[in-house]
Amino acid sequence: MTSDIFAGQPTDPELLAELYDLEHDLVMHDAPFVRELAHRAPGAVLDLGCGSGRLFASLAEGGATRIVGVDGSAALLRRAELRIAGDERLAGMAAAGAIDLIHGDARALGGLALGGPFALVLAVGVIPHLAGPEDALRLLSGVRRLLDAGGVLVLDDIGPGEMPTRDLPLSVDWRRTIGGREVVRRSSLIRREAPEGVRVAFSTMVDATQPDGTIARLPASYRLWYPFPDALATQVSRAGMMVETRYGSHDLEPLGPESERRIFLVTHGSPTAVDRER
Ligand SMILES: C[S@@+](CC[C@H](N)C(=O)[O-])C[C@H]1O[C@@H](n2cnc3c(N)ncnc32)[C@H](O)[C@@H]1O
Repeated sequence: MTSDIFAGQPTDPELLAELYDLEHDLVMHDAPFVRELAHRAPGAVLDLGCGSGRLFASLAEGGATRIVGVDGSAALLRRAELRIAGDERLAGMAAAGAIDLIHGDARALGGLALGGPFALVLAVGVIPHLAGPEDALRLLSGVRRLLDAGGVLVLDDIGPGEMPTRDLPLSVDWRRTIGGREVVRRSSLIRREAPEGVRVAFSTMVDATQPDGTIARLPASYRLWYPFPDALATQVSRAGMMVETRYGSHDLEPLGPESERRIFLVTHGSPTAVDRER
């Protein structure tokens, strides 16, 4: 399985990545949360599945001394370069060698030259793209080796209250002007509940009106996995770490069945007698 979510889509990957990116760029409500995370865990930050670097500015504002972004999509990393060049603070950090963009698979971190250890590791919106618990364990085990002794891993995804409860027929999600284009997104969704979480086959059809009036039609499909919180916590402990705090929103509400987010703050935990003997 590839780590590039745009690979194999029957569509122009650059345009698909651009529209995916512009859509995610509209998400701003987690900026104060991310800034505060960086502030509380000063040092180097690893942003797994960083996409086009949407969170980089908040990390830098929070005081990150170094940012390493890893993503499986080369198209999104090219957009991250543009974002860095267009932001004075990020451009300064990049000129000082304090930002690295790495094209790679978050499930195989051992094979990447990332440096480290990291005071903060983020995986925002990444877990649902993994095939399931074994993939999550690969990612988490890789993070464990890179996380500073007092460091924090943040797993931030949609919460139980936002998981689809039924199949959804093809319908219009939104019409927006993004990047100067009229864009309409339609999607359909088929869900299946499994012991490890909700499995979703999500198909999108994006119609983007081009400057010359023609319409680029971009079909794509994604297989998503929304783990139940306890199923993900099991993988965290299998990887030798512990979920220290569970939040249900970026306003730090407790996690519950109706929560909009499932945010785990993961640490190495207190060393057990076995760890100390190693
Ligand atoms: C929903 S986006 C989130 C992007 C970014 N974290 C943010 O919050 O704006 C998910 C990202 O994870 C990346 N991704 C998915 N699976 C990956 C993998 N196995 N290795 C590396 N990146 C991956 C995708 O390319 C995409 O950029």
